[in-house]
Amino acid sequence: MPAAPPADAIALLKADHRKVEELFAKFEKAKDSARKQALATEICTELTIHAMIEEEIFYPACEEAVEEDLAHEAYVEHDGAKVLIAEIAQGDPDDEFYAAKVMVLSEMIKHHVKEEEKPGEGFFAQARKGDIDMKALGEKLTARKEQLLAAIKQGGLPAPETRSFTGHKLKQGRPVQAAA
Ligand SMILES: [Fe+2]
Repeated sequence: MPAAPPADAIALLKADHRKVEELFAKFEKAKDSARKQALATEICTELTIHAMIEEEIFYPACEEAVEEDLAHEAYVEHDGAKVLIAEIAQGDPDDEFYAAKVMVLSEMIKHHVKEEEKPGEGFFAQARKGDIDMKALGEKLTARKEQLLAAIKQGGLPAPETRSFTGHKLKQGRPVQAAA
């Protein structure tokens, strides 16, 4: 059994990052479609919950402590990831772009992790300097995580909600030609 989740908000979010990094590494090595799909589903679940608890609880709590530009980029990056998550969740490992979507999502998450964990100036470092009770915040994150996980187990992934994207009326262009 894994250890009890850390109560400190930043430690909890970092643990989430390590978990998805591990899942992406496993996906890269996976050979068969069923394994790929199982890992991708886990990645989508973890990232959906992570983005939701950050957006609902952690980011608002850090509003005073963190530069607005950095926070805005985090929201936009999350919204970009949600589009890929939705594509992957509805896709099939045998689809032409499935693996590419997972890889691009992985790159986006690497960037997200860097922006949050960068020593001295990242989101977490700035938040630490603020007057925030990270232990109390960690408890809120843990409670919401458990709630979301139970809801996803019952009803599947919730419809993604964007907070910064408004241009949803995308048109499907000519598909990329499959290599002969
Ligand atoms: Fe994060």
